[in-house]
Amino acid sequence: PRKIIIDTDPGQDDAVAILLALASPEEIDVLGIVSVAGNVPLELTTLNARKICELAGKPETAIYAGCDRPLAHSLVTAEHVHGKTGLDGPDLPEPHMPVQDKHGVDFIVDTLREQPPGTVTLCPLGPLTNIATALQKAPDIAERIQEIVLMGGAYFEVGNITPAAEFNIYVDPEAAEIVFKCGAPISVMPLDVTHKALVTKPRNDAFRALGNPAGIASAEMTDFFERFDKEKYGSAGAPLHDPCVTAYVINPDLFSGRHINVEIETKSELTRGMTVADWWGVTDRPKNATFMGDLDADGFFALITQRLARL
Ligand code: BDR
Ligand code: CA
Repeated sequence: PRKIIIDTDPGQDDAVAILLALASPEEIDVLGIVSVAGNVPLELTTLNARKICELAGKPETAIYAGCDRPLAHSLVTAEHVHGKTGLDGPDLPEPHMPVQDKHGVDFIVDTLREQPPGTVTLCPLGPLTNIATALQKAPDIAERIQEIVLMGGAYFEVGNITPAAEFNIYVDPEAAEIVFKCGAPISVMPLDVTHKALVTKPRNDAFRALGNPAGIASAEMTDFFERFDKEKYGSAGAPLHDPCVTAYVINPDLFSGRHINVEIETKSELTRGMTVADWWGVTDRPKNATFMGDLDADGFFALITQRLARL
């Protein structure tokens, strides 16, 4: 299995991404989960990560708290999408499992230094604050990263928090710039892909019909989470943004994209956090990321449903 660190701000879609990873031990070995401030403040994302691991029946998972604010700006949250708790929808019990003592950034740095080079994949599902802080603190880790598979950005789909920017990049563009320039192989799941990963009614019914706590909670979470996108975009269901990351680690053939140059806008008031993606290759700027453009949505949902059934 591929060794991964999940860096996350749960979030209903983060929750499904985590459940998918924890249900897939043949392909994925979750070394640890690091929380970050994003959809809701850090205390809540850390609490939610614990609730999800217990929902998965994996209280032995190591959870670390990371950064509580972006590098250079104040925190922007998304309760309008995810609800007050960040995980509105199901009624999940208060968790008992611990949070590890070590800071999440130190866990990332130490793990990359301890494990053989090229064997650890980072899976950021929220703002890139923790990953950028780790890279700033310990630049030697960049060349030890196997791959960074992240959810963030957009090209044709442009933005969801401002007209020009996707939420995860917008919240901490300075961090995103550090990550996109770090030199490690990067695969990006932008809105262009995740807006095709929609939990339609039959897909939601399939989660619920599993009848186990993880299946029922996933149906309840996506029921709640779909409101925003249905009202805003007339979407056919909740977009499962973050599970695209863990599904890609399990089966990259579900996705297709292009290896291109991606730069992050950090200066402009109007377009801060925009991923300027050279999809058509109109510049000679260096290619630094594989930017996904499409997915096999039926294959993606079949995988998630099959894996949730195991929990
Ligand atoms: C991203 O922002 C968050 O609200 C979601 O969890 C996802 O990571 C989508 O723009
Ligand atoms: Ca997220």
